[in-house]
Amino acid sequence: MKHLLSTENLSLSDAIRVLDTAEEMSAVGEREVKKLPALRGRTVVNLFFEDSTRTRISFEAAAKRLSADVINFAAKGSSVSKGESLKDTAQTLAAMGADAVVIRHWASGAPHRLAATDWIDAAVINAGDGTHEHPTQALLDAFTMRRHWSQVNGIESTGAALKGMRVAIAGDVLHSRVARSNVWLLKTLGAEVTLVAPPTLLPIGVEHWPCKVSYDLDQTLEAGVDAMMMLRVQGERMNASFFPSTREYSRRWGFDDARLRALDDLGMKDTIIMHPGPMNRGLEISSAAADSPRSTVLAQVRNGVSVRMAALYLLLSGDSREAAPNVSQSSKETN
Ligand code: NCD
Repeated sequence: MKHLLSTENLSLSDAIRVLDTAEEMSAVGEREVKKLPALRGRTVVNLFFEDSTRTRISFEAAAKRLSADVINFAAKGSSVSKGESLKDTAQTLAAMGADAVVIRHWASGAPHRLAATDWIDAAVINAGDGTHEHPTQALLDAFTMRRHWSQVNGIESTGAALKGMRVAIAGDVLHSRVARSNVWLLKTLGAEVTLVAPPTLLPIGVEHWPCKVSYDLDQTLEAGVDAMMMLRVQGERMNASFFPSTREYSRRWGFDDARLRALDDLGMKDTIIMHPGPMNRGLEISSAAADSPRSTVLAQVRNGVSVRMAALYLLLSGDSREAAPNVSQSSKETN
């Protein structure tokens, strides 16, 4: 694995390697000194052409916990806003000796372009490209689900432990790179995925995706769901009206208080509620649902750091077939 660009092309063994390494990394996050020397002397550039809070901070924390040098490069306020091209930016980063570039871009395909050219010889990680893919988000979601599903089934959280898990992903699928990356990865890991959305918020060709499609959230819940992932309504990508009103949207497609109660009534005591953030409380998810014990929203953020540490470690530490670092031994080196 030289780059991490999509989950559609991520093999089962690479996916499992990232998730298993992330388990090792999460042990580091629980220590008083949250640092490993693994990437000392390496430079990671966060290149963000689109706004981000969670993802950018998460990559920064991940790189720092691995002792890499981190350069944050936001396109706003840089020469990019003066019209500098992706090529010039990439060549500048290459001249600065970047070993990895974490890129978020409004154009679908920008990270692939960066990886395919000889502008720069760094590992490229896609941190969200347009409406296309967001592989590390899908990996952290899968990590969160695998931990939960293993606990429910009393098994260890390793390997492809998502077999048989029923995952519903509801909301603005049309504009969601999170939904796309999740569908591919969850399929690879053996989960059963159902997309739930109004017809106007489903992409053309969705019938060819490896999942079921439903227009009815209540029916989907009644059929049984182990993880319910709500997607943000992406107002900034909407140039037309995709639903009659926000009230109508939350009544039909939102995870509201009534649906939260329905999980109890249906006897689904182990079902979790997920959201990648940022949340529109009261629209796609109610506050009671977002703050309930079933919610994994904050666990997803926490797990994001471990998963991104794993991705950076596997891409940058030479032989990606090596096992994860021996955490206890490395800790002695840090002290
Ligand atoms: C997602 C994104 O940016 O694609 N958020 C994230 O990475 N935490 C989802 C979203 O913006 O709705």
